[in-house]
Amino acid sequence: MMQEDLSKYRKSYEKWELLEANVPDNPIQLFQTWFYEVEENGGVDETNAMSVSTIGLDGFPKTRVVLLKKYTYEGFIFYTNYLSEKGKAMTQNPNVCLSFFWASMERQVIIKGVAEKLAENLSDGYFESRPLGSKLGAVVSPQSEVIPSRKFLEEELKKLEEIYTDEVPRPEYWGGFLVRPQSIEFWQGRPNRLHDRIRYTLTDDYDWKIERLAP
Ligand SMILES: Cc1cc2nc3c(=O)[nH]c(=O)nc-3n(C[C@H](O)[C@H](O)[C@H](O)COP(=O)(O)O)c2cc1C
Repeated sequence: MMQEDLSKYRKSYEKWELLEANVPDNPIQLFQTWFYEVEENGGVDETNAMSVSTIGLDGFPKTRVVLLKKYTYEGFIFYTNYLSEKGKAMTQNPNVCLSFFWASMERQVIIKGVAEKLAENLSDGYFESRPLGSKLGAVVSPQSEVIPSRKFLEEELKKLEEIYTDEVPRPEYWGGFLVRPQSIEFWQGRPNRLHDRIRYTLTDDYDWKIERLAP
């Protein structure tokens, strides 16, 4: 029988702290601070990579990584195929969870929110800014569908390359999702497993309530 005991993987988190006295009223400001602190402290590959969890049509949650492309006081934006597994899941149930783990900072951020399709002109603008190869890749891939082979994709791409050499219109099945946050939890690793957890929750009058959670 194969077994691998990982109990010796154990680390003390000692780098930073997260105290009520130092947090801003708005969680997006704290998100921005933490995002830039990753870069300022040596950076990591793909700081903007985040997990997106959805409730699928099959009733199971599913998590996968996407790239955060923009955030504002309104919320968090990423781009994908609207007919992909996640696209269909969010169309049926827009409640999602986004999360970041920045290991080098001993930090995790967990965002619960409601996803909506981004305004078409904003998706157009972002699509337009992508390199030609990425545009064609988005057009050609029936994301999350079963396909016969890699060759199938390559041949489809070749056909498209002959049609489009310059302007590629954004397909209607590809675009952004805006996730409007309802709660944002900031987790800072601390010694002895007494981690700091500060959760912001949106109130009925659009204020943010700040609470400390037990680690
Ligand atoms: C680092 C990284 C970044 C990714 N960025 C995106 C992205 O921005 N959009 C996207 O649709 N898929 C992205 N993917 C692929 C997704 O993880 C996933 O395979 C794909 O979206 C299909 O997911 P679904 O079948 O659950 O819908 C990324 C994967 C990795 C590992």
